[in-house]
Amino acid sequence: MDRFIIEGTRELTGEIKVSGAKNAILPIMAACLLAPGKSVLTNVPNLIDLKTMAHLLRIIGARIDHSGDTMMIDSSDICFFEAPYELVSKMRASIYVLGPLLARLGEARVSFPGGCAIGTRPVDLHLKAVEALGATVKIEHGYIHATASALKGAQIRFEISSVGATINALMAAVLAEGETVLNNAAMEPEVDSVIEFLIKMGALIEGKGSTTLKITGVKHLFPVEMKMIPDRIEAGTFLIAGAMSRKPVTVSNCEPSHLTILMEKLREAGCEIDVKDHSIRIHTPGEIKPVNVITLPYPGFPTDLQAQFMALMTLSQGICFMEDTIFPDRFMHVSELNRLQADITLSRGIATIKGVKALSGAEVMATDLRASAALVLAGLVAKGKTIVSRIYHIDRGYDRIEEKLRSIGANIIRENA
Ligand code: EPZ
Repeated sequence: MDRFIIEGTRELTGEIKVSGAKNAILPIMAACLLAPGKSVLTNVPNLIDLKTMAHLLRIIGARIDHSGDTMMIDSSDICFFEAPYELVSKMRASIYVLGPLLARLGEARVSFPGGCAIGTRPVDLHLKAVEALGATVKIEHGYIHATASALKGAQIRFEISSVGATINALMAAVLAEGETVLNNAAMEPEVDSVIEFLIKMGALIEGKGSTTLKITGVKHLFPVEMKMIPDRIEAGTFLIAGAMSRKPVTVSNCEPSHLTILMEKLREAGCEIDVKDHSIRIHTPGEIKPVNVITLPYPGFPTDLQAQFMALMTLSQGICFMEDTIFPDRFMHVSELNRLQADITLSRGIATIKGVKALSGAEVMATDLRASAALVLAGLVAKGKTIVSRIYHIDRGYDRIEEKLRSIGANIIRENA
């Protein structure tokens, strides 16, 4: 199993590039099932989660070719409607084939996703949405079995804002008969990106960027080519790395408008930020100030940057608090950060972070994707050597992170232990 060996320094500087957004590409890959023919996605990084989705789509009958940063998906011969346990248990985003398979084949059998390292993650909103669109859903032998002779437009109000359920409902509704209205829809940039892709394919969707989406069903969709948006969470992770350094770092190939709240919080922490069209320069001239964070649906502070921001706050001059309202138990990184001599306590879902003068290198273990990113960030600036094991978690969502971090002077190597 691979691990990272890191020698800490607070002298990171230079330019670091962001890749395409995993959480937009995953549903867009599934959306390709909606239109027979070859779709082409560009700016697609090399990530384990995308490989898992490609594997799933191949099982379903698609042909996929991923070379360089271009992925071709040919869904002319879709014949199988099952997402097996083996793949769903590896990656919950496999649930994204539910809507497209129902729309294209009238049937989907998807293994019921279990819990995961960041807490219990139900899929009830996905199921309610496809039921509202006329599907019959049965749970049998650990599988969700949904069938529909014809999907019909419906009014759907999500009880809570859900990225996945909004996208699954959209993908089922675009080929349904009549009009669908989604209320309290999620507004994350990844949702907008899927909407843009579906519209390019010929779907009729109004309301992009708002919580109310109106979809008028069409009979057919067509394959298309589209460049994938930059990954705002990868960009945010690198900005935080820059904030932890004493020298300036420029994060390029990113979309600054997707990072507004993070930049606000970083400025509050004392960072100087200079925004250009597709790049952000960050520099922390003085001490890091403590900043409280509560994660919320977009445009609020993203849960996917909570762990990394906590890594930054371990070095602040004071005390701050963090709460995750999206995944209240997403704090597995706390005890590992404390192994690096951070001072964090957790009580009733609130993390209290007391800044320390310096972190101290140690052996730590990654527990999930963003927790691993936080441990790498902490290791980058800790005194001495940090070893982060189980880094397959980080390879799920960051393309060659160690090479990118080396481009800003990090001393990090991958070792096969
Ligand atoms: C997406 O997960 C992302 N995953 C997550 O990123 C991200 O943390 C999350 O959105 C929130 O931004 C992908 O895009 C593949 P939700 P998703 O449905 O869609 C509750 C990462 O690190 N809920 O928006 O599963 C849920 O428990 C990952 O890249 C229900 O109750 O998240 C949560 O409290 C991890 N019932 C809230 O909604 C449901 O049916 C929001 O979750 C669905 C969700």
